[in-house]
Amino acid sequence: MTGGALNKDEIRKRIEQLVRELNYHIYRYYTLDDPVISDAEYDELYRELLRLEEEHPDLIQPDSPTTRVGPPPAVGFAPVRHRGRMLSLDNAFDADELLAFGERVRKALGIPLEEIEFVCELKMDGTAVALTYENGLFTKSATRGDGEVGEDITPNLKTIRTVPMRILADNPPELIEVVGEVYMPKESFERLNKERLERGEPPFANPRNAAAGSLRQLDPKITAERNLSMVTFSIGYTTGEYPRTQWEMLLLLGDMGFRLGEHSEMVRGLKDAIAYCDNWKDRREELDYEIDGVVIKVNSLEYQRALGATSKSPRWAVAYKFPPEEKTTRVIDIKIGVGRTGALTPVAVLEPLSIAGSTVSHATLHNEDEVRRKDVRIGDRVLVHKAGDVIPEIVKVITDARTGDEKPFVMPSRCPVCGAEVVREEGEAVARCTNIACPAQNFERILHFASRGAMDIEGMGDVTVNELLSRGFVKDVADIFYLTREQIYQLPGFKDKSVSNLLNAIEAAKDRPLWRLVFGLGIRHVGSHMAKVLTSHFLSIDELASASVEGLLSVEGVGERIAESVHNFFKQEENLKVIDKLKRAGVRMSDEVAEEERELPLSGKSFVLTGALSRYTRDEVTALIERLGGRVTGSVSKKTDYVIVGSEPGSKYEKALSLGIPTLSEEEFEEMIKGAS
Ligand code: IVH
Repeated sequence: MTGGALNKDEIRKRIEQLVRELNYHIYRYYTLDDPVISDAEYDELYRELLRLEEEHPDLIQPDSPTTRVGPPPAVGFAPVRHRGRMLSLDNAFDADELLAFGERVRKALGIPLEEIEFVCELKMDGTAVALTYENGLFTKSATRGDGEVGEDITPNLKTIRTVPMRILADNPPELIEVVGEVYMPKESFERLNKERLERGEPPFANPRNAAAGSLRQLDPKITAERNLSMVTFSIGYTTGEYPRTQWEMLLLLGDMGFRLGEHSEMVRGLKDAIAYCDNWKDRREELDYEIDGVVIKVNSLEYQRALGATSKSPRWAVAYKFPPEEKTTRVIDIKIGVGRTGALTPVAVLEPLSIAGSTVSHATLHNEDEVRRKDVRIGDRVLVHKAGDVIPEIVKVITDARTGDEKPFVMPSRCPVCGAEVVREEGEAVARCTNIACPAQNFERILHFASRGAMDIEGMGDVTVNELLSRGFVKDVADIFYLTREQIYQLPGFKDKSVSNLLNAIEAAKDRPLWRLVFGLGIRHVGSHMAKVLTSHFLSIDELASASVEGLLSVEGVGERIAESVHNFFKQEENLKVIDKLKRAGVRMSDEVAEEERELPLSGKSFVLTGALSRYTRDEVTALIERLGGRVTGSVSKKTDYVIVGSEPGSKYEKALSLGIPTLSEEEFEEMIKGAS
């Protein structure tokens, strides 16, 4: 920047200008899908703003884009009362029900149906939210809740780039409450579910649940990662002027900088509205987000007011819900997928069919009980639909089509990937592979082992673990400790310093407390707390590994589920091999420090020797004290516990007396340790 340093006023102006510009570019990019600058140019502006804000935190604007991902709210989700009641809609499932809605409207208004205007909008499959803007500034947002009181989710809504931080209007109303729908695009939804399945977590049934779940995260950082978007379709309340029609309302919302639903249309009478429904029923695959129907609204707000609402829903609108598409196909096979946590999931291999816009060749059967409940057999003809219109699911078996040649499914007792024993714990729906080195589970296991909460190997993040696995340098957690400098050099991005750093971090991890190792091994049901409980009782891996179920159960806080799980883990040959390899690498397998602290009579005690001892040499007494867990230091301080005094003591004796530290003769010392040595 030329012209020397800016004064405070100029800096404030520059910050305000950057906020305005950046918000405009966010609007062009996310709301209009029509950016006018490059990402690099945007980044440059953003960095300038960040820098100025860092230097002048007092000048951070409330609508600054840097405040989008903020800290979690202190009080969780506080209740918020909506100004306008948030109603839901009555449903119509076919043309007859749509016509019945039209008839009710015609009768109530006393006007021929052909003269009544309707707005047709796509019904986004998401979750409704209300947003409050005060003098143009976004100040609050809430879920629908029961329609009158919702939950405050403002920090989470802020992370959505299609939510304007400030309304684009010269004279914004003092207060306006806008109603919209938060949704998750198909691609993000599918990716999220894939990740969840890989982590052994249940997938979201549909994008609506995914959107709602993402908004109810306490940490806005998680919401920010979920790639949510929002469209708006009505003004719930405003101190400003209300528009005359629904159509004008949409235009007004668009002018204010909100994203609108696509493909809205204004029609007269219901014939075209029904045609709109039919059209989008067949075309919904074209969209990159899910819709579950069409909303038809009386256009005139005056008519809307005349029609009013029941306690539940307005009489001036109806939701036409698409029928779920269902087709039949044949089950060619039932295969087993192994997730990263070792969960075995039966998957039906289907004769490929096209359904709701995509080709489907697999349908998850979730778990053994689900297969049994639906009685799906290999060779069966089945009815398939997409749950939440995305995840293919077998609705039911067409038992009439059975020939008798169908084969029932049996859960294998060995992992199809590695051959290790499969265990299904009591009360659990999921069967799991018990082999710690199973390739299907390795990535997650190794990542967990190295993570900060476990062995804390800095620099072993997901990218590095992935590279190590794909190069075959690491096959199980123990291999980490056998990595060579040359191998790490081959990983992308590693140079002299980072190689040394990683090697040092690995070296340091050899000496972690035992609970970190036990937690890091990833034994089912053994979290960090349980690992501490177990290792405060079993002081080494060997002790823990050889404990019987009864022995484990005798530890306070250990229930049957955990005892079985631990016992099972250490029964597996593969796991014992990994532990042996860890041992040979020099990884600490016991809690020596803890042992001393817990059991030794002089643990934590510090001694000073002075004068000539008659019964021991200095070395002998020092060794004895250390064997009993104590320490011998050279000088007396307030931290000294005892001073052992021989004949002709020196100044240390004086010091002990002046500090009030107990002194012991050799006899008294022997008396003290009697029975312990
Ligand atoms: S109007 C007062 N328009 O569908 C009526 N709703 O089943 C407010 N939805 O709660 C609803 N797209 O979450 C309206 N274009 C749209 C919509 C829409 C999705 C959701 C909304 C509503 C639910 C009713």
